Amino acid sequence: MNIAVVGTGYVGLVVGACLAETGNQVAGADVDASKIDRLKQNILPIYEPGLEDLVERNQAAGRLSFTTDVRDAIGRSEVAFIAVGTPPGEDGSADLRHVLAVAEEIGKAMKREMVVVTKSTVPVGTAAKVADCVAKHAKHPFHVVSNPEFLKEGAAVADFMRPDRIVIGECRGPEALDMLQAMKTGHAGSLTTIHSNGPRDALARIETMVLMSGADLPLRAIREQVAAAIDLVVYVERMQDGTRKITQISEVRGYESELITMQDLFVFQREGYDGQHVLGGLRPTGIRPGFSDQLTSRGIDLPLNWFGYEGDAAFEADRS
Ligand SMILES: NC(=O)c1ccc[n+]([C@@H]2O[C@H](COP(=O)([O-])OP(=O)(O)OC[C@H]3O[C@@H](n4cnc5c(N)ncnc54)[C@H](O)[C@@H]3O)[C@@H](O)[C@H]2O)c1
Repeated sequence: MNIAVVGTGYVGLVVGACLAETGNQVAGADVDASKIDRLKQNILPIYEPGLEDLVERNQAAGRLSFTTDVRDAIGRSEVAFIAVGTPPGEDGSADLRHVLAVAEEIGKAMKREMVVVTKSTVPVGTAAKVADCVAKHAKHPFHVVSNPEFLKEGAAVADFMRPDRIVIGECRGPEALDMLQAMKTGHAGSLTTIHSNGPRDALARIETMVLMSGADLPLRAIREQVAAAIDLVVYVERMQDGTRKITQISEVRGYESELITMQDLFVFQREGYDGQHVLGGLRPTGIRPGFSDQLTSRGIDLPLNWFGYEGDAAFEADRS
């Protein structure tokens, strides 16, 4: 995938080098000509363990390049990351001038449908402003994705390459999923929010999104991948009293006879309604979770009585 990272400061440099390392074609673009000159010679403005090696190796391999020609970098890309600074303004709020200037530039420079990703730290509501700025000049469809950076200085490369989790807001279209797949950033510990009518329906919707993204795979293969990638589905429902409660926690067990097998570990038991509140609580089903052995083998103590498991096979069979 061709990616432009606009702003090659702390964040942009780490993001660009890591995306090149995962096989993408990355152009790091910045208005600071001396910074770009030095980067071309593998001289980095910051020290971050492993970064210099990544920059050098990926420049040598032709996957990472640096330029002051922001417009050209965007014109060659399908995805543009906005990673410019957002210095605090006079009232302490983030100054969005650079972010919105880049958004306008993206609108002018784009030559195809694009995903525009904001990496900079920005207040809620910025995605709409970014979309407005891109739209002023855009001649192609585009999608704005908010992907704020949470890097820890000193561990930025390691955090990017092996994040302990990825949080994605609701996937409204296939492009976010598509982009994540393309960047090969699917790691253990990711979290995704899907609107659905239950845990099984959530899996069906993921299948549909993968199909919509144009994946040329048989349904069986998609199901196998979904079953392998997802461990737990936590289902949150809006109740009659207006509150949101977790009403089901289901474990994805595997794939059998062309179906994904699931098992409820916790289910909300409704015990009544007092006119104002829904009464009841999340109760264990008595099923021993499939991941318990894995955790135990890693030295993590997981009391099985949390799950209502009493160690009795007949009891479990009865419950299931
Ligand atoms: N540094 C961190 O640890 C960190 C962590 C999380 C989030 N962030 C956020 O990420 C964003 C970037 O931070 P940073 O530390 O990388 O900033 P930085 O100041 O190191 O880099 C920003 C770069 O953007 C360039 N730039 C500015 N306007 C431009 C334009 N119109 N076109 C092209 N390039 C332009 C600047 O020349 C500079 O090189 C900020 O919003 C920051 O709050 C930073």
